[in-house]
Amino acid sequence: MLPRPGPKQSARSADRDVAGRLLAWYDGHARELPWRAKKGMLADPYHVWLSEIMLQQTTVQAVAAYYRKFLARWPNVEALAAVSLDDVLAAWAGLGYYARARNLHKTAKLVAESGGRFPRTAEALRRLPGIGAYTAGAIAAIAFDAREAAMDANAERVIARLFAVDKPLPRAKEKIRVFGQSLVPARRAGDFAQALMDLGSMICTPRRPACPNCPWSADCEARKRGIQEALPVKAEKAARPLRRGVAFVARDRSGAILLVRRPEDGLLGGMMQPPLGPWTEEFPSTEDALLQAPFKADWKKRAGIVCHGFTHFELEIAVYVAEVAKQTKIDGAWIGDLSNAALPTVMRKIIAHALDEGGPLFRHARMRAERTPKRQTRSARNC
Ligand code: ADE
Repeated sequence: MLPRPGPKQSARSADRDVAGRLLAWYDGHARELPWRAKKGMLADPYHVWLSEIMLQQTTVQAVAAYYRKFLARWPNVEALAAVSLDDVLAAWAGLGYYARARNLHKTAKLVAESGGRFPRTAEALRRLPGIGAYTAGAIAAIAFDAREAAMDANAERVIARLFAVDKPLPRAKEKIRVFGQSLVPARRAGDFAQALMDLGSMICTPRRPACPNCPWSADCEARKRGIQEALPVKAEKAARPLRRGVAFVARDRSGAILLVRRPEDGLLGGMMQPPLGPWTEEFPSTEDALLQAPFKADWKKRAGIVCHGFTHFELEIAVYVAEVAKQTKIDGAWIGDLSNAALPTVMRKIIAHALDEGGPLFRHARMRAERTPKRQTRSARNC
């Protein structure tokens, strides 16, 4: 049986052995990731923070290119603090969850103002915008070797199995965190956090975990009981509601497309988009849709719709396009080269849909291929 953590049990030798087995495995199997320090070194706090913010709700594969791009453009926190929010949002476009970019910029300014040094404790890190319990623990452990557990969904799965926690998430979170924290070793806490991430991503996967290759196979309570694939138990998810709306993609003769800015607060705050109507339960009729257009023009409806999954709802957008002889003066900007515009993935999909079927009219549009974050590509319907 694994030792159960109690008030004075965290340094027990059995716990040390369990942590030691994971660290020994990590020494031979750690993933090479661009934000990781060389063996035996501590990573730069700026690198750790930047990567951890990007990795919130986004895969390692999707993040790597963005991480490299940010670091090349803004090699330290002062450089990031010195640029405009617009520059940051534009560089972030495609990564999703844009509140992260806004908080990233706020935190960069706060850290730069206080001498460019990140706080060293999880408690102090948590006071910075965009840093929650997991991210604070991860930065404190990885950058400063603080004895903190970094419990994201991967780590939770591993620990829930190791201790056979069968209470459903999210109620089990605190219990799992306490178990996880009890194993964090006094030395190499950062490696321990990253080893847990690697184990969760390579061995202790949600389905068909590779138990024979696991350094904790003999320790794992769930495996002993043959219930590893059933853990962690998750509460039933509510179905995501569906919202529908209309987009208007206007293009002038030079190829420029009309973009407007979204309100600063709320979903995709401050990002750019083609003019959109309100999102409701049903699509408006063509007649009603045209009343939502930003100006009068020969709007033509494209065949098909654009689907996009947000965390809390699914969105379907019908797309209207128009070529205009001259740029109408409305509160927006006519942009010729979209590659550096702060356009979130859903808006790029809408424009791509307009352009794809546009034939010669839209042939010269310059679109950049985007990686899409994992949570935003899932759609229950095939449309
Ligand atoms: N997921 C979240 N943080 C991570 C990290 N530092 N390395 C790998 N995967 C992660």
